[in-house]
Amino acid sequence: MANGKPRVLATRLFPPDVEARLSANFDAVLNPQDRIYDGPALVKAAAGCDAIMCAAGDGLNGETIAALPASIRMIATFSVGYEHIDVAAAAKRGIAVANTPDVLTDATADIAMLCLLGAARRAHEGATMLRTHHWIGWSPTQLMGTHVTGKRLGILGMGRIGQAMADRARAFRMQIHYSNRSKLAPDLEKGAIFHADPDDMLPHCDFLSINAPMTPQTRKWVNAERIARLPKGAIVVNTARGGVVDDDALIAALKSGHLASAGLDVFDGEPKLHQGYYDLTNAFLLPHMGSATVETRNAMGFKALDNLEAFLLRKQAPPDLVKV
Ligand code: DGY
Repeated sequence: MANGKPRVLATRLFPPDVEARLSANFDAVLNPQDRIYDGPALVKAAAGCDAIMCAAGDGLNGETIAALPASIRMIATFSVGYEHIDVAAAAKRGIAVANTPDVLTDATADIAMLCLLGAARRAHEGATMLRTHHWIGWSPTQLMGTHVTGKRLGILGMGRIGQAMADRARAFRMQIHYSNRSKLAPDLEKGAIFHADPDDMLPHCDFLSINAPMTPQTRKWVNAERIARLPKGAIVVNTARGGVVDDDALIAALKSGHLASAGLDVFDGEPKLHQGYYDLTNAFLLPHMGSATVETRNAMGFKALDNLEAFLLRKQAPPDLVKV
């Protein structure tokens, strides 16, 4: 607390407009070098702070949370995903956790569609051919990919982002299948075909898009057995969390040709991805940029600030409180 303002540690360099509001309303401890804090460094940096504004990838596991200074009352993450925070450990210490749902739905669904198209249409190979001066001109058989129009898209996790992905895919006249904890109401389902058991959906997926959060139940969900249930030549898209995919199994299927290609924006253990991906020409890979638009990153920051301001300045429940 300085000048009567609660002190907030920003674990990362956030967009300028977000940091400006953070600094105006709080005693902000910024990270202008965008240094990555490991657990002990984060605990040290949080000394004297009332709250932490963190981001995806910050390791706020049980051990780190247990070691945080007693002054910490809130963790506001600049992300919709919160698997990097041990929410139960935070609750045990009376620390409120909030996230940023809704505002990154469209940007993430856009990147999911980009991954789907990039994988289907061999964008990585085409771009590489051109930029390495290996393109010798148009040819009738060059870089023939997979047609998208009219194909079946299976969506695992039909929450906000899954539904936005379905809306985009409908514009490509794709037939939508989905699996979700519960069947959606008809106005949200919009004719998509529900599979109560996600395993039953797999044989119907020319494309499979992962839009489910990372939980103990979804960890390595896309494994060898499930990949084998996909039709030969299917394409896997993942813009949710890398841990939902068993990398060894996916890479083996991309090498064997059982899968035509994959479009991935997220990786288990990122930024250190499985070495096998680097050697695959049939993988369209992006560096976790689903929410990376100026508008979306500002909106995420403002949402994190709405949560901090409600809780620390107005003593109200944060609007996006994560429940244990
Ligand atoms: C999130 O918010 O969880 C995203 O993965 C960050 O873009």
